[in-house]
Amino acid sequence: MCGIVGYVGKRDCTEVLMNGLRKLEYRGYDSAGIAVFQNGEITVAKSKGRLDDLEERMKQDGAPIGQVGIGHTRWATHGEPSDVNSHPHSGGRVTIVHNGIIENYKEIKDFLITKGVSFDSDTDTEVVARLLDYRYNGSPIQTISETVRDLKGSYALGIIFADHPEQVYTVRCESPLIVGVGELESFIASDVLAIIEYTRNYYLLEHEEIAVLGRDGVHIYDAFGQPVQKELKTADWDVETIGKGGYAHFMLKEIHEQPTAIRNTIRPRIRDGLPNLEECGITLEVLRAFRHIHIIACGTAMHAGTVGKYVIEKLACVQVTVDIASEFRYRDPLVGEGDLVIIISQSGETADSLVAMRLAKKLGAKTLAIVNAMGSSIAREADMLIYTYAGPEIAVASTKAYMVQIAVMYLFAFELALAVGKIDETKCRSFVHLLEQTPDVISEILNHKEQTQYIASSLITADSLLYIGRGLDYALSMEGSLKLKEISYIHSESYAAGELKHGTISLITENMPVIAVATQKALWEKTISNIKEVKARGAKVILVCRKSDVVDKDAVDMRFGLPDFDDMLMPMIAVVPLQLIAYYTSVLKGNDVDKPRNLAKSVTVE
Ligand code: M6R
Repeated sequence: MCGIVGYVGKRDCTEVLMNGLRKLEYRGYDSAGIAVFQNGEITVAKSKGRLDDLEERMKQDGAPIGQVGIGHTRWATHGEPSDVNSHPHSGGRVTIVHNGIIENYKEIKDFLITKGVSFDSDTDTEVVARLLDYRYNGSPIQTISETVRDLKGSYALGIIFADHPEQVYTVRCESPLIVGVGELESFIASDVLAIIEYTRNYYLLEHEEIAVLGRDGVHIYDAFGQPVQKELKTADWDVETIGKGGYAHFMLKEIHEQPTAIRNTIRPRIRDGLPNLEECGITLEVLRAFRHIHIIACGTAMHAGTVGKYVIEKLACVQVTVDIASEFRYRDPLVGEGDLVIIISQSGETADSLVAMRLAKKLGAKTLAIVNAMGSSIAREADMLIYTYAGPEIAVASTKAYMVQIAVMYLFAFELALAVGKIDETKCRSFVHLLEQTPDVISEILNHKEQTQYIASSLITADSLLYIGRGLDYALSMEGSLKLKEISYIHSESYAAGELKHGTISLITENMPVIAVATQKALWEKTISNIKEVKARGAKVILVCRKSDVVDKDAVDMRFGLPDFDDMLMPMIAVVPLQLIAYYTSVLKGNDVDKPRNLAKSVTVE
């Protein structure tokens, strides 16, 4: 998704903006630009492509020199990636950068055309710049406040006015934006990461709040231009936490951070050996009140929810449905009072999930958010909240966030099963104890991961792959398959192993490797039969199972041996080799592992 940075202070603004934009690269983008006041005039530099392309352009044309400005990385929505469609966009006296989508841009554009306004780009952003300019009466706050009332959609804007060269203005509606406060300097950014090397203090802007940044500090106003007082927050991450820490890629670092992320997430929620989610607003009484649970999420978070469904239904015998957030909203869902809707999201800003959560609330359900990003929209709007403590996840391919989402799903399932009397305290303690052991088991895998590189090297020439499994292994296959396709660009699908024979097996040839996951003892024989079916049709089979499992040599070509562990918690263990196989395949193919093409880390458009 697009990234915004803005600066007012004493430093070299171009350098601050470019540094900040580099920190936001993980969000995904296809063009970039900055606008800086140079000798009182707004100077714009922008380019299609990566930040290196913009830097190259500035080397040739001269980089703007100044101390006040705004910058942007664009992920194209309206209009192709091109120099002209890149932000910033100017509308005369007003220059802006924009994150999000203006749904009624066409209507506004038509109106402005009737007023003689002309346009250079295809973007919805230029429409906002021109509308602001059309309305501008010398008072930026009043103009912004009046203009945003006409905008429909989600947006965060960074704005500079040609006749206010000492200020940056900003306003947000749905799309995230923070305002950083330093010593005689201030910042705006889509993410704290962009400014953390300069300041840890920041304000979270609420819906339709407007901020004015100057060297004398930050002033914040509500949608009607009335001043508001806000709590200054402090980010507690250090710069090392957000660097690569010696790893070749963020993804590899984040895979290795999983044991710590699990410990950080579960420890505060375990008391006397039992799950305790009271600080999140979840007590045994609250849990007993729910008759049905809906889990809503997207992508990897939805896969974590799928693991949750298997575990909750098995342990607590409460019915769970899992929905893709973008489908939930449009299928007249049967959700209402007495239901619990769990929203899982790393970023807490995914538009599909946020909108689905609002709908669930409107229908009378209670909502519980499982979110990694502090203070994000989903975290703020949910009735109950469990933060996952994975720390910042930079790689677009989610790994440690998935891990802690599952860890929370287990804790939740244990507590629910206890609440509804399906397990007693002794059983519950034994489950919690197993969960506490998972970080050590994962570390063991991370210390012996060479086999995953070997497996990856056998996959790089494949055009297409299948991941198969049964039960929890099927839930896990979905995640393995998504991980591989998003960063290796090799097509892959996950299939319930028993479903193959109903159609998909016709795809099997010697050119279609199959990655089979078999960690569930009760399903072992059945999965092995399915493996033999694909092997007999020429597939190269890679099996992920326990080291101790005895497999017929002719049935598989390669295998990854997992440490012995409890069946129910195996998804947390077995996902690690799947993440590593995807990672090394991407590395071997020479792809941009942390920033795969066409993808964004935080998807803030529906
Ligand atoms: O921030 P969220 O957890 O809501 O994001 C949901 C998906 O967009 C995300 O998990 C996506 O599928 C990842 N790129 C997968 O690695």
